[in-house]
Amino acid sequence: MHFDKSDELRKRAHELIPGGAHPYAKGDDQYPEVAPGFIARGVGAHVWDVDDNEFIEYGAGLRSVVLGHGHTRVVAAVAEAAALGTNFVRPGPLEVDLAERLLELLPAADMVKFAKNGSDVTTAAVKLARAHTGRDLVVMCADQPFFSTDDWFIGATPMDAGIPDAVSSLSLRFRYNDLADLERIFAERPDQIACVVMEAATFLEPAAGFLPAVADLCHAHGALFVLDEMITGFRWDVGGAQAVYGIEPDLSTFGKAIANGFALSALVGRREVMELGGLQTDRPRVFLLSTTHGGETTGLAAGLATLDVYREQDVVGHLKWAGETLRATVSESARELGIEGHFEVLGNPANLIYATRDAAGRPSQSFRTLFLQETIRRGVLAPSFVVNLGHGQDEIERTVDAVRGALEIYGRALEDGVDAHLTSRAVQPVFRRYC
Ligand SMILES: Cc1ncc(COP(=O)(O)O)c(C=O)c1O
Repeated sequence: MHFDKSDELRKRAHELIPGGAHPYAKGDDQYPEVAPGFIARGVGAHVWDVDDNEFIEYGAGLRSVVLGHGHTRVVAAVAEAAALGTNFVRPGPLEVDLAERLLELLPAADMVKFAKNGSDVTTAAVKLARAHTGRDLVVMCADQPFFSTDDWFIGATPMDAGIPDAVSSLSLRFRYNDLADLERIFAERPDQIACVVMEAATFLEPAAGFLPAVADLCHAHGALFVLDEMITGFRWDVGGAQAVYGIEPDLSTFGKAIANGFALSALVGRREVMELGGLQTDRPRVFLLSTTHGGETTGLAAGLATLDVYREQDVVGHLKWAGETLRATVSESARELGIEGHFEVLGNPANLIYATRDAAGRPSQSFRTLFLQETIRRGVLAPSFVVNLGHGQDEIERTVDAVRGALEIYGRALEDGVDAHLTSRAVQPVFRRYC
């Protein structure tokens, strides 16, 4: 396996693009040096890099490609929409069709507004909540990794350069599954909090009654409950985590899997709040997600086709099967090798990650790098174990074999030191202040 073309492109990319990639999660600092730098094509769960190396890939499109690459149904719908014209001077009918289909699945919501990025709709939810309540403060869940590229969220990370304190100081954080922490924040700032923004779950399940209690607390204090369903939507259930956990957010936001990797996101919510961005309100108007590409047709067509696939096939059931099989077999390998305390698979079966720990049991980026290095060598590209419909029995078996081989090396590295096995520098977390 060689990466000559990737290495060549990488040099050009770093000259032209800050970080050499668009999302930081795809950046070179997230992978070992000996790795596929650029992916040229994909089918289902398989991808080929620019040097024509083939890999079984996990976490496709930062979790957006839920039906697998090049899904024929979605590609046909997109091609048809593209041929008919992608953007007109007035709205197109797909906007209404998709609005109806999506809202049928989300009983807590009355209206929807489409956009292209998850960040934009989550930021729009915050803006609506501020306008609706007349308050400035936002409380977000501290243990959840990401809500938006915008300042209200990034200002609370170590990468807050360029964000005024006046903005960052309006965002507060509470701990997941810790109702008392949220109660304290509300008590300390009466009538100041516009909304709570959170995911229903990331890698931990909610404690019994936690999510309804968060919603009740918000409402008792006149704030809105905003649920970010970017990852949980179309993975936990076609009706999102709100269907699974029986909660009714005031506003919720979808993206990623909604259109199998094509650009589409959605803000949905209660009419009373959403209509602040409409033409039927007496209150001051909110400039809500008015973007050139909001009604662009290929993303909407991809969304409709994705919903058709969910109607005809048990996609969520498949993700659960694939994730559970993977978790069980990989965990078994780690146990057999006696390293289960050092390599652990975590999370919902539709959204699995893994934790890498060193010999002392501390989280370790060097061991993560070693695992990536050794699985890449064996034809698996797995920054996570996030599955899609393209991961069938064969792909899972090939992955389990590759992981087994990688974990054997991992076990040796726990004994004789990771540096003896690494061929490159370690990967690094995205959110750090300096390079
Ligand atoms: C939970 C969550 N919310 C929001 C976003 C932002 O979505 P986008 O990258 O489409 O702007 C992400 C992206 O990773 C996410 O994971």
